[in-house]
Amino acid sequence: MTHSDARGNLKESLLALFPEEHQIAEDCRILSPLHQRSILLDGEMHVWKGETRPVHSPMCVRGADGSLTHVELGSYPLTGTAEADAALAAAERAYDHGRGQWPTMSVAERIACVQNFTNQIIARRREIVNLIMWEIGKSLADSEKEFDRTIDYIKATIAELKQLDNGNSRFQIVDGTIAQIRRSPLGIVLCMGPYNYPMNETFTTLIPALIMGNVVVFKPPRFGVLLYYPMLEAFRSAFPRGVINIVYGQGNVVVPHVMASGKVNVLALIGTSKVADQLKKAHPKSNRLRAVLGLEAKNAAIILPDADVELTVKECIAGTLSFNGQRCTAIKMILVHQAIAERFLRRFCEEIGKLKIGMPWEKGVTLTPLPEMNKVAYMNDCIADAVGQGARVLNEGGGTSVETLFYPAVVYPVKDGMKLYREEQFGPLIPVAPFEDIETALEYVISSDHGQQVSIFGTDPEQIASLVDPLVNQVCRVNINCQCQRSPDIFPFTGRKDSAEGTLSVHDALRAFSIRTMVAAKQTDATKTLLDAIVLGHKSNFVNTHFIL
Ligand code: G3H
Repeated sequence: MTHSDARGNLKESLLALFPEEHQIAEDCRILSPLHQRSILLDGEMHVWKGETRPVHSPMCVRGADGSLTHVELGSYPLTGTAEADAALAAAERAYDHGRGQWPTMSVAERIACVQNFTNQIIARRREIVNLIMWEIGKSLADSEKEFDRTIDYIKATIAELKQLDNGNSRFQIVDGTIAQIRRSPLGIVLCMGPYNYPMNETFTTLIPALIMGNVVVFKPPRFGVLLYYPMLEAFRSAFPRGVINIVYGQGNVVVPHVMASGKVNVLALIGTSKVADQLKKAHPKSNRLRAVLGLEAKNAAIILPDADVELTVKECIAGTLSFNGQRCTAIKMILVHQAIAERFLRRFCEEIGKLKIGMPWEKGVTLTPLPEMNKVAYMNDCIADAVGQGARVLNEGGGTSVETLFYPAVVYPVKDGMKLYREEQFGPLIPVAPFEDIETALEYVISSDHGQQVSIFGTDPEQIASLVDPLVNQVCRVNINCQCQRSPDIFPFTGRKDSAEGTLSVHDALRAFSIRTMVAAKQTDATKTLLDAIVLGHKSNFVNTHFIL
């Protein structure tokens, strides 16, 4: 069979993976499109009568003639700058310069609201998981994992906040000054998450922002809007009015408009450095703005000559291809020592050949349709660019595509000057570059615009240690013999250069969305009497020694 025959056969197989309508598992079907017309503004559901945007799934159904039609999932309100202004005004009223009900509420009461919200969304788990799967093409198992991981994150946040608050429920006396030091909210937070983890990554900023007493204007990601529909009522009923307001619509119009108002105190964005840069510049009072950013990355795997090939292959498969490589933490460049390159690449391509590609509800599936409609064209472009400069696609069928299904391609040898060398491909494309001198691999990381993580594969303690020491000053997580990843969420998640600003672990996020504030007084008898009266009379939510159990 010729190469083009094989590619033709693979194309046919890929086409056949899109189901006919009746073949879709019954419990996963979208029974009727979800046309969202309610918007949550200032604690009330409003019926939207304006323009709407249709939502289509990355999954298609196949007609008898082999034609593919993207499944219609529904539509959502295309709100504009007027609604964004209304959302900001509602948030401002709710915060009321820090005098509002929410920012002055006791921590225990705020925790109770978040708990109420969490219980309500747990009751809608199945619907939300199904929408994650249909909107972004994430496998059912991973969509479930995303939901459950988010709930665990919320629970861990509550536990952490109790500990933080209990630690601050006491007075300190230093040099004749009595002080109580707590963490206070910052004001209005603009929250935006990414489409690859539309629920989880959004909630890792939204929940800490809320629970610390801030008010939120939230813009759902590009893909993954409808999954918030089943949560609207929980948002409305669990929090006081105006504490959370949702805006939809054209991101590049609405979001700069919100920033230009100067009313946003914290920009919480998981997205790209280009967008973050523009948004920060749109704010008229830069010193009032705090930014909590999770941005792009180009994490490298460095494979040393003595690496355990089987383990390295397993970790690099997970690192490059989990959720089709659409993770900010994915391994996006493999640097392999020449001495081991042939062995590694042979086994790596063999294992890619064993991965199951198909629809996300299928058991054991790893590779699924891509939500960005122009992604396949971009990846073909990257391959053509690399091939034009002397690289090859190593794995059989690599780069074959039908509509949104793209068969992963291992591209070798990738070198400086090719798009794949530096661009964040964010998809199932795996650039591999050989090296002879370890300095070349180190130089790649040093000269990168990104600095999130790196993975080193090897067994020699001396060599690993000599790489760890310089690399910890280039990135924020050095993984030894394992893939790059964010989890466990208790650990710090951040990056250097254009990869992040601020740190987002369960513990650090509470700090990112708050500021240390203290009440201080001279240590005199009169002060002691006054503070006693406040504490014993339970008169303040700040000056108190309550313990939250
Ligand atoms: O896209 C970034 C996600 O936070 C990745 O999380 O590395 O734990 O899968 P993970």
